[in-house]
Amino acid sequence: MAAGKFIVFEGIDGAGKTTQMKLLAVALEKRGTPVLCTREPGGTALGDRLRALLLDPACRDITRPAEAFLYAADRAQHVTEKILPALQRGETVLCDRFIYSTLAYQGGGRGLDREFLTKLNELATGGLAPDLVILLDLPAEEGMRRVAGNRSPDRLEGEKSDFFRQVRRGYLAQAESQPKLFKVIQAGAGVEAVHRSVLASLESLASVASVSKDKFFPG
Ligand code: TYD
Repeated sequence: MAAGKFIVFEGIDGAGKTTQMKLLAVALEKRGTPVLCTREPGGTALGDRLRALLLDPACRDITRPAEAFLYAADRAQHVTEKILPALQRGETVLCDRFIYSTLAYQGGGRGLDREFLTKLNELATGGLAPDLVILLDLPAEEGMRRVAGNRSPDRLEGEKSDFFRQVRRGYLAQAESQPKLFKVIQAGAGVEAVHRSVLASLESLASVASVSKDKFFPG
């Protein structure tokens, strides 16, 4: 069965993922590619409720493991209810954050055990992996500056710069260990320049050994 591509956008808060994802969706649709845009946390009715909890500054007492489980619960629902069916229909899925956020934020930022998080991610996704991860890389201070201009910070945006430095390191370490999967783009360039780099990163997609989705779509 022909399956659509699964493309994930990652980066620290303020990196511009949402803007770039929307621009890519428009470009792909112009080429006649059916696209589904979605995000984590969120993307389903359960996910939207989990998102509200996770981002609520009043929920400052959520423990580190509880936080990881909540993101995983959101992901488990999202994969089954939204991502897999869209791929099955042959749509290209653009997803704002996925398992790499858990490794960067709960691993790098909060210091939770990597193996535990990897297992949790596997449980949540059933092993589904994207074809491409676009990492929009930005210094922590720049990300915080961009977010600060927008509105009052959510629970995670209210963290200190040290936290975001660790998150960024967590991302770059993942990109370094999986160079075929990750495309790292400097997010400090203008919106147009970043968009061109995003488009260029897709050119390599055909040659990137695409993760077989046969095991998810028997027959
Ligand atoms: P995001 O949608 O980027 O927030 P916004 O719409 O405000 O830009 O992501 C929500 C927050 O959740 C973000 O701070 C990163 C965090 N997060 C994790 O800590 N772990 C995860 O697994 C995911 C998916 C997100």
